[in-house]
Amino acid sequence: MEAKLLSRNIIGVDVNDVAIERCREKIDFEHEGANGKVYLKKGDARNLSFIKDEHIDLICTHPPYADIIKYSEDIEEDLSRLKISDFLEEMKKVAKESYRVLKKDRFCAILMGDTRKKGCMIPMSFDVMKIFQEAGFTLKELIIKEQHNCRATGYWKTNSVKYNFLLIAHEYLFVFKK
Ligand SMILES: C[S@@+](CC[C@H](N)C(=O)[O-])C[C@H]1O[C@@H](n2cnc3c(N)ncnc32)[C@H](O)[C@@H]1O
Repeated sequence: MEAKLLSRNIIGVDVNDVAIERCREKIDFEHEGANGKVYLKKGDARNLSFIKDEHIDLICTHPPYADIIKYSEDIEEDLSRLKISDFLEEMKKVAKESYRVLKKDRFCAILMGDTRKKGCMIPMSFDVMKIFQEAGFTLKELIIKEQHNCRATGYWKTNSVKYNFLLIAHEYLFVFKK
């Protein structure tokens, strides 16, 4: 929606038909000067073979936070079905493909959060950050985004009192440069 409003041409990729359909509904508007062309594609961020090398000006991506929230039950390519270690392994392919399709000197923004296991922090966002750096990106900015009242907040609030830990109230927007 923002891309269309800013008159940028965009390719939106998701493995889930539901996400694609929601996007289709959101971009179904007319607004003066909003001329961005939107191409929605059911696809896997690990394999963007329909995009040539160095063709993209900006990547904005918001992966699942491993299996913290499951976005589907039976879509094999859905990374939200993977436990953290497998998820991180697959994110290496996402980072590699992102690097391949992005033009030189352009940016790749990725929003990523953390979780807890047995009451202790698992800072998997930093693992993802390292994976993108290892794929060749440099970290241009690290932006902290507050997050409140998410779908899972009630669950975490109850457990934080019960097991004595702090609520995770932020996630990270990593901005990488190729
Ligand atoms: C945190 S949501 C982000 C949703 C939406 N793009 C946004 O930014 O608001 C994560 C999305 O990643 C999608 N996803 C999971 N595995 C994927 C994969 N291998 N390739 C592309 N998208 C995937 C899920 O279907 C889900 O819609």
